[in-house]
Amino acid sequence: MSSEQKKNYVVQPGGKLQGNIRVPGDKSISHRSIMLGSLAEGTTEVTGFLEGDDALATLASFRAMGVQIDGPKDGKVSVHGVGMNGLKAPEGDVYLGNSGTSIRLLSGLLSGQGFEITLTGDKSLSGRPMRRVTDPLAQMGAVIDSNEGRPPLTIKADNKLKGINYKLPMASAQVKSCLLLAGLYAEGKTSVTEPAPTRDHTERMLKGMGYKVDVQGDTVSVEGGGKLTATNIEVPADISSATFFMVGAAISEGSDITLTHVGINPTRIGVINILRLMGADITLSNEAVTGGEPVADIRIKYAPLKGIQIPEDQVPLAIDEFPALFVAAACADGQTVLTGAEELRVKESDRIQAMADGLQILGIDAVSTPDGIIINGGVIGSGEVESHDDHRIAMSFAMAALQAGGTIQINDCANVATSFPNFVGLAKEAGLDIEEVDE
Ligand code: S3P
Repeated sequence: MSSEQKKNYVVQPGGKLQGNIRVPGDKSISHRSIMLGSLAEGTTEVTGFLEGDDALATLASFRAMGVQIDGPKDGKVSVHGVGMNGLKAPEGDVYLGNSGTSIRLLSGLLSGQGFEITLTGDKSLSGRPMRRVTDPLAQMGAVIDSNEGRPPLTIKADNKLKGINYKLPMASAQVKSCLLLAGLYAEGKTSVTEPAPTRDHTERMLKGMGYKVDVQGDTVSVEGGGKLTATNIEVPADISSATFFMVGAAISEGSDITLTHVGINPTRIGVINILRLMGADITLSNEAVTGGEPVADIRIKYAPLKGIQIPEDQVPLAIDEFPALFVAAACADGQTVLTGAEELRVKESDRIQAMADGLQILGIDAVSTPDGIIINGGVIGSGEVESHDDHRIAMSFAMAALQAGGTIQINDCANVATSFPNFVGLAKEAGLDIEEVDE
C-alpha cells in the first residue's frame, strides 16, 4: 500500500489560489456505491467514483467476495450486483488499508451473510475503536471477535440477526450506517437514534435503490428482508476535499477560486457555515440535485477572517474538516474555540493533538483540550511538521504555507492517496508551490 512508501511535502511560502477546480469524488458516497451496488439486482453504473485507496479497498473487498466490478476507469465503475444473498466467502482475510468507513460499514453488512470473514487494516486502522460497532451488532445477534475492541475483526458465520432499537452514544454516520446495513438482514425492524444529525448518504442511496427507509425526527429505521434495485449513481465532488482549497483561498490575499459540482448535502456543510461565521466570502451557484444528492459550485474569495466560538451543532456537520479549519483559525484575527469534538481524537490520527503540535511548531498559540482546541490567530512561520500518516493533516498544513513566513515541510504524506490522489497536481494548478519528495 502507498503508506509504506514515505513521501514528504515541501511547500514554499506565499501565493494565492485561483481558477476552476473539480476535486475528486465523494469518499463516503463512493464506498456506498460499491457496497449497495454489489447487493442490488442488476448493474449499477457509477460515475465520478473516487479512485483513492480507501474506496478502492472497498471495491477490492467486494471483488474478493465474488462481485464482478468493471473499472474504475476515468471515475466510471460498473457494479454487477449479486443480490442481497449472493456474496461468497473470500479466500483469506480482507485487507481494508486505512479505511474506517470500509471496516465499520462492512462489519454490519457482513454480519448477516452466513460466512466467516476476517477484516484487517493498516497500523492506524488497527488502533481504531470498533466496540462502537461490535457492541450493538452483538445485541443484534452477531458474533464478532476483535483484538480487544480493535481490528482485526472476525465475523462468524451463521449469525441470525434480530432488529434492535439503538441509541447512538456518539454522533457517527459510520455506526448508524453499519447498523442500518445489518438491519437489511435482520428479522423485524432496526431503528437507530442519533444524538445529532450525521451524514445521511446511506439512507439516501438505500431509498434511491428502492429500499424503504423510515425517518422520524432523529430516528432512522429499516425492516429486514427487502431488496435493492440497481441504479445509476453520479458521485459529486467531495466537500471534504474541496475544503482544503476553500481554506487556502480564505487565508491568502488575492485568491478567488471556484470548486465545481461539489456535494452540499445539508449534513456535510458545516465547513461552509463555520467559514462564513469567521467572515469568509463564499457564494454558491449552479445548485442542482444529482442522484438524490444536492450539488453546487462553491466560489470563495479572500476576505479577512475573525476567530469564533464554533457552535457545537456544527461539529458533526464538519467532522472531517477541522484540521483545515484550524489552519483558518490560525490565520484569523482573535481566538477560535472548539468544544464538543472529542471524536477528532479517534480519527485516522488524534487530529486535535496532531494539529496543535504542528501549529505550535509553526509559531501559532494552539492549545489542545480534551474535546477541542483553543487557537489564537497569529503569524505562521516555517518548520517541519508531522502528518502522523493522516491525509487530512497533511493537506491542511500544505495550505498553511500560503500564509507562512518560510518553507513548510510535512512528513509522511503518502496517505493523501486514500482520499485525494491528485492533490499535489491540482494544488499546483490552483497556485500552491508544492513538491512531493520521496524519502
Ligand atoms: C464517514 C463518517 C465519519 C467521517 C468519515 C466518513 C462515513 O466518521 O469522519 O470520514 O462515510 O460514514 P464517523 O462516523 O466516525 O464520525
